[in-house]
Amino acid sequence: MVTSPVERIRNTLLKTKIMSAEAAAALIPTGANVGMSGFTGAGYPKQLPAALAKRMKHAHATGEDFRIGLWTGASTAPELDGVLAEAHGISMRLPYQSDPTVRKQINAGEMQYTDLHLSHVAQLVWFGFLGNLDIAVVEVAGILPDGRLIPSSSVGNNKTWIDQADKIILEVNSMQNMGLEGMHDIYYGTQLPPDRQPIPLVRASGRIGEAYLRCDLSKVIAVVQTNQPDRNTPFAEPDETSQRIASHVIDFLGKEVKAGRLPADLLPLQSGVGNIANAVLAGLNHGPFEKMTAYTEVLQDGMLDMLRSGKLTSASATALSFSPAALKEFNDNIDFYSKRIVLRPQEISNHPEVVRRLGVIAMNAMIEADIYGNVNSTHIKGTSIMNGIGGSGDFARNAFLSFFVTPSTAKNGAISCIVPMVSHVDHTEHDVQILVTEQGLADLRGLSPKQRARLIIEKCAHPDYRPALTEYYERALRESPGQHTPHLMHEALTWQETALRVMETTA
Ligand code: COA
Repeated sequence: MVTSPVERIRNTLLKTKIMSAEAAAALIPTGANVGMSGFTGAGYPKQLPAALAKRMKHAHATGEDFRIGLWTGASTAPELDGVLAEAHGISMRLPYQSDPTVRKQINAGEMQYTDLHLSHVAQLVWFGFLGNLDIAVVEVAGILPDGRLIPSSSVGNNKTWIDQADKIILEVNSMQNMGLEGMHDIYYGTQLPPDRQPIPLVRASGRIGEAYLRCDLSKVIAVVQTNQPDRNTPFAEPDETSQRIASHVIDFLGKEVKAGRLPADLLPLQSGVGNIANAVLAGLNHGPFEKMTAYTEVLQDGMLDMLRSGKLTSASATALSFSPAALKEFNDNIDFYSKRIVLRPQEISNHPEVVRRLGVIAMNAMIEADIYGNVNSTHIKGTSIMNGIGGSGDFARNAFLSFFVTPSTAKNGAISCIVPMVSHVDHTEHDVQILVTEQGLADLRGLSPKQRARLIIEKCAHPDYRPALTEYYERALRESPGQHTPHLMHEALTWQETALRVMETTA
């Protein structure tokens, strides 16, 4: 299955550009904006970042500043974000990260971070809003004789990086399965306003583009050969909390089918990252629905299992993010999966127009929600970033049904994930339809703020926090100057700490 690196580079001109990662890294100057491939630990360059980090460390040791602007599809891996952050080599990071060192530097104020809706990134670059893209560094699975590129295990923003960058460095990874060839659908019909046309995608599994990335060969300055696997993180077995959240979601979907508001095979599913999302998918795999489809951003283990069982007939995504066991299953049976999976650029996998047209069922995790249904997905205590908004906003606002899920408490029960007022808003009350914790599900559709507050406290808050939340709400009803969304403004954001103290004194 694994062919040698040279067989993968079939273009004569690009064969002459083969060089070591160190030689390629030497072509990146300090201050450059570099668009690297990589999306949820899939398809990122494996060797060039380490070589670049080495240069950065050397420059810093001799008193020189050497940092770059790092743009990617989404999160990457220790071999990319990790090494560059450890070298203190990232001045600006966008549009999403989940690396512990990067997070630490952002929260310490050492690194700038622009947290963006993932569907917006490509167009922000086309519009020129993010500055010049100097260099693209993109992992591919191979290069055709005519120079077109076989994309890797993620597409992300690669089309945009390759189109927009002044120069291109390719990493050809012979560890990526050649069976990926043909799975991608790269759409070249996007335009700048006012010349835009509808995106002609009307089914989740539809194809509207090409299987390969086009590449201006005159821009390619280096080709690096690698043979390393993607970062593969194992998923935890769904715990009781995740299973209870999953069963609330599945019961609700069943009721919607019964009520005639959803077809029996549901509508295309979008599932966010993490263990709860995976537990919901595991629940759906054993649940009553058949012949489902997915229009999502990342394909995780749960969806692979559903494709294997036949519960899911097709899945559209921009990246494959599997555990080691799921990756083996995928590689061993790639002929089966390649007929059922389409990988697209993230501006299409997450496109609001398509999400709205298909009527996606969106399920995303959150950090906290407030009693009125505003959701915080990104910040701890309002000031420290966790990861980023990712694609959750692309899907939530435009979905047919938009779920947000979380355990009702964090830190072993010391913090309530249902609070009077969220400390940061990523998804407003207008974009949040259904809140779910292991305690229950609050269907917020059509409810006023005050109706929502009662329901969220009753259905979603942990019983330990319900009395304090109810007491806050009742007092707000009595004392708030405005009665549309009653709040005690001097108290709303200190509530978490008050609740913590209450817990401590009653323990
Ligand atoms: N207050 C303080 N800390 C909290 C908290 C709260 N209300 N809720 C969760 N946390 C902490 C957890 O304790 C955990 O901390 P740890 O890493 O020190 O253990 C951390 O936040 C992650 O929480 P966890 O329960 O493990 O959830 P998760 O892995 O499912 O991640 C999000 C939840 C919200 C951080 C994650 O889903 C995310 O980044 N979402 C935004 C992007 C997104 O939705 N992408 C998908 C779109 S396609």
